[in-house]
Amino acid sequence: MSSLIDQALAREWFYSYRLPDGRTTPTYHGVDIQAIHDTRWQMARACLEQRLGDDYAGLSAIDLASHQGWFAVKLAQAGFGRVLGVDARSSHVEDSSLIADIYGLDRLSFRQGDVHQLDAEALGAFDVVLMFGLLYHLEDPIGALRACRALCRNLCLIETQIVPGMTGFVDYGGYQYVRPLKGSFGIVDETGDTHGPEASITGICLVPSLDALLWILEKVGFAGATVLAPPDDAYEQLRFHKRVMVAAQV
Ligand SMILES: C[S@@+](CC[C@H](N)C(=O)[O-])C[C@H]1O[C@@H](n2cnc3c(N)ncnc32)[C@H](O)[C@@H]1O
Repeated sequence: MSSLIDQALAREWFYSYRLPDGRTTPTYHGVDIQAIHDTRWQMARACLEQRLGDDYAGLSAIDLASHQGWFAVKLAQAGFGRVLGVDARSSHVEDSSLIADIYGLDRLSFRQGDVHQLDAEALGAFDVVLMFGLLYHLEDPIGALRACRALCRNLCLIETQIVPGMTGFVDYGGYQYVRPLKGSFGIVDETGDTHGPEASITGICLVPSLDALLWILEKVGFAGATVLAPPDDAYEQLRFHKRVMVAAQV
């Protein structure tokens, strides 16, 4: 065990994990960023309890873009019977597997995968799908939301940055054929950042407006989607509506 802890202490982390010997993993972002993780888990946990109760032993969950495992670990510690974390970066899979070993979470596993290339049929369906901090790093966010739906048996929680939306009408080929906008996407350039551990892997990012996100969730087959209210002391991005967490129900 101590050599596993030594390995964890020798690495750099996005998340501040408390290790069994009381020490915490060294982080590369400083302590301020931890508030966003705490807020998001608080919101996710409250929603899980409200919709699924507090006994998760018979339930499975998948965490898309699991990074170094924070939310997958939380789900496993909350008692989910099986948790799978998927991330595009193999170094994250190694780091999160190390943490799962240190905590002795044997129903938790991680694998490398691009959300745009997942074989949902082979993976099967999960009671809960989590996709936090990923949608706005993608060039095919609609495809990713389709993947969420394909993988989801019950509840899908999506947390994402959003952009201010355009509304109104467009003359769609001619003034007699007018269509209402259902939402919009902002394009963000991460092409110079693809080496970053939190970044897009292709660099072309489409960030949805809230209207767009809610409309698309319904169109890809969710029965409904609700924006979750952040707590009063939420991390500023959630508190001031720059990011949202949405619960989509099958
Ligand atoms: C901002 S981090 C969010 C991590 C974590 N879900 C969270 O909210 O703390 C974005 C994560 O998405 C992963 N990622 C980027 N593009 C991906 C893709 N196409 N498929 C799967 N994971 C991807 C990155 O490696 C990184 O771990």
